[in-house]
Amino acid sequence: MSGSLNPSSLARLLGEWNAGAAPAYRELADVVRLLVLDGRVPLGVALPSERSLAATLGISRTTVTAAYSLLREQGFLSSGQGSRGRTCIPQSGTPGDGQGAALSGAPGLVVPDGILDLAYASLPASGEVVHRAFAAALTELPALLPGFGYDALGVLPLRDAIARHYSAAGVPTTPQQILVTSGAQHALNIVLRTLAGRADKVLVEHPSYPNAIDAIRAAGCRLVPVPMPAAAPSGADPAARPGWDLAAFESALKQRPAMAYVVPDFHNPTGRLMPDSQRRRLVRAAAAAGTVLVVDETLRELNLDGMDSTPMAAFSPALVSLGSLSKSHWAGLRTGWIRAEESLIQRFAAARTTLDLGGPVVEQLAAAHLVNALAEPLPARLATLRDNRDGLLELLRGHLPDWETERPDGGLSVWCRLPAPISTALAVVAPDVGIRLAAGPRFGTGGAFEQYLRVPFTLPLEQLETAVLALRSAQDRLSASPQLRRTRSAPPAAAIA
Ligand SMILES: Cc1ncc(COP(=O)(O)O)c(C=O)c1O
Repeated sequence: MSGSLNPSSLARLLGEWNAGAAPAYRELADVVRLLVLDGRVPLGVALPSERSLAATLGISRTTVTAAYSLLREQGFLSSGQGSRGRTCIPQSGTPGDGQGAALSGAPGLVVPDGILDLAYASLPASGEVVHRAFAAALTELPALLPGFGYDALGVLPLRDAIARHYSAAGVPTTPQQILVTSGAQHALNIVLRTLAGRADKVLVEHPSYPNAIDAIRAAGCRLVPVPMPAAAPSGADPAARPGWDLAAFESALKQRPAMAYVVPDFHNPTGRLMPDSQRRRLVRAAAAAGTVLVVDETLRELNLDGMDSTPMAAFSPALVSLGSLSKSHWAGLRTGWIRAEESLIQRFAAARTTLDLGGPVVEQLAAAHLVNALAEPLPARLATLRDNRDGLLELLRGHLPDWETERPDGGLSVWCRLPAPISTALAVVAPDVGIRLAAGPRFGTGGAFEQYLRVPFTLPLEQLETAVLALRSAQDRLSASPQLRRTRSAPPAAAIA
């Protein structure tokens, strides 16, 4: 957006801005900031000159100057030429916004001491799109304020948007089949609480998403790991994808687990996409065993090579799908959902109220806009991720030629086979070489995957190069000091996503 705002238009928008409760410059800055945040003053427009605004408002120029400097300090006004700064929103590290240090140290990017974080496979927000959605949500909020604000299912506009998204993908869905959650991890906990009792068996892929493994364990369930086939050797026909071992699934399902948790859409950590033929077979086997299939679709939008696949729910009305905006838009939204048959959704809603009483309303209204325009930020996001994936694979081949890598179909990470069982040792020495790692065993049970490491490609390419060089130096350090490989110390307690 460009252009400028004339003083009388701004005066009209400001309305009764001067309540006299605080110094005038602060009140003026506060109201302009609100106007920018709720979208009534668009981003990128030049505000009136100090002189003209002072004259129109009948206040001193010093007051306007002080208000504009405060807005600049807070990151809402660019420090362009002269006094005609343009409206903007604070970027990480905006000087004087008081949050710069915290933002630049956000987990998943560079932690405060300059360490590159490879334990998180997550991206920064698709900024402008998210900001616009919140501005629209603020304008819709007044209509909901007379209500109680508690809604265990989620606000209707968001459930409606999610239902339409599934229907458009070929899975007819009503809003009554959707429950909004604070992310997919919250969704899984609600499902576990409803469907899996203590000591019940829960089948998982092996490797699988660490926080899901932890949630299943914390629910007191018994994990039944089903091995994923090894990656095809490098040089093999790329069409020969390893996929899932359906015979192993069918055999494990004979134990009649209460639940099976799978990530068929760009599986975390391998990045594989389950072919439709396997989806059909898995759904059939779970139904025959009386096992509820819980399908985590958190990464479904990160389809890096535009591969065709049918949403799992198209193969059976009985399965439970989990979704999230964390990877398509931003994990900071903390918005996800459960899609299931209406009767199950009612049970999930009842179980949910033992955890919380509903999600925050403004976030849900904003999320409805994001789901309605789900495709908008994706092309740019996917293009960056494709470059990062290809760049990372090349860096790994160049600097760590004895690591075996599998080219992921999508998602956010490469699952690497190391030349020796050194994953935990690598994670322990990682901070010394400037990186943070999630060791392979976090992705499995019983100490498996000591010879594997997940390397996300979510950092910018130049940081990925630094990270791969750091991995190389960590490996060299272990080779030079073999006693380090036998480390019994656990890697530093690490949050993982
Ligand atoms: C497979 C999978 N499920 C769930 C999550 C967590 O999602 P959310 O942020 O929506 O809780 C992640 C995050 O990395 C994930 O990879």
